[in-house]
Amino acid sequence: NAPVRDRLRVAIQKSGRLAEPARALLASCGLSWRESRDRLFCYGESLPIDLLLVRDDDIPGLIADGVCDLGVVGRNVLQEQGSDRAGNGRTLAFREWRALGFGRCRLDIAVPDGWDWEGVQQLAGKRIATSYPALLSRWLVEQGVDAQVVLLSGSVEIAPRLGQAEAICDLVSSGATLAANQLKPVTTLLESEAVLAGPAEELDATRGELAELLLRRLDGALRIRH
Ligand code: PRP
Ligand code: ZN
Ligand code: MG
Repeated sequence: NAPVRDRLRVAIQKSGRLAEPARALLASCGLSWRESRDRLFCYGESLPIDLLLVRDDDIPGLIADGVCDLGVVGRNVLQEQGSDRAGNGRTLAFREWRALGFGRCRLDIAVPDGWDWEGVQQLAGKRIATSYPALLSRWLVEQGVDAQVVLLSGSVEIAPRLGQAEAICDLVSSGATLAANQLKPVTTLLESEAVLAGPAEELDATRGELAELLLRRLDGALRIRH
């Protein structure tokens, strides 16, 4: 078990699409930090709320392990790792606390432009490349489609051209990456955006109160934005 801490620790993406908006949102909640030399840990000055700058994929695990209390991460990452843990019979140690309204994208199935799309049954017997094997596998079961999941950690859109798969399941934001790879989206598995993730169970008193304060300010900031 993690040692007792009297400061709240929030994990955000070190670099990438959610990094700057996450930091800006927390700053708009009145948080300020003194940056450390390695720039991976930011010590909270206005409040005892520290930032940890990490890979987004590590955020759910950091919360599950109690290394961090909260995190800003894509719903896609949170649900993928949640589905994976559920599939392995592990308890759900983290959950979505708030939707944050930025970083919107979809987890879509995409197929080559030339395909005449007739519905999900067309995926039967096909190979589908993805970085989201748990979400894709669960969806295929729900759809009653028997297809093979090919796991790739990145550059998923190139898989059909390389002959590794016939279709893909990946995030679509502007659609530029799909278009550049002569693919078209045909169906959506998940509508995603940045979320505030936290533990499934309550925090202890000190950090619980800090988290409540942060949530109140966050809700105020989100109301002003929308
Ligand atoms: C994401 C995602 C898609 C692309 C979609 O990749 O995996 O490939 O963005 O965005 P678009 O619809 O605007 O083109 P990202 O560039 O974040 O890199 P990654 O796949 O290595 O995480
Ligand atoms: Zn990532
Ligand atoms: Mg990509």
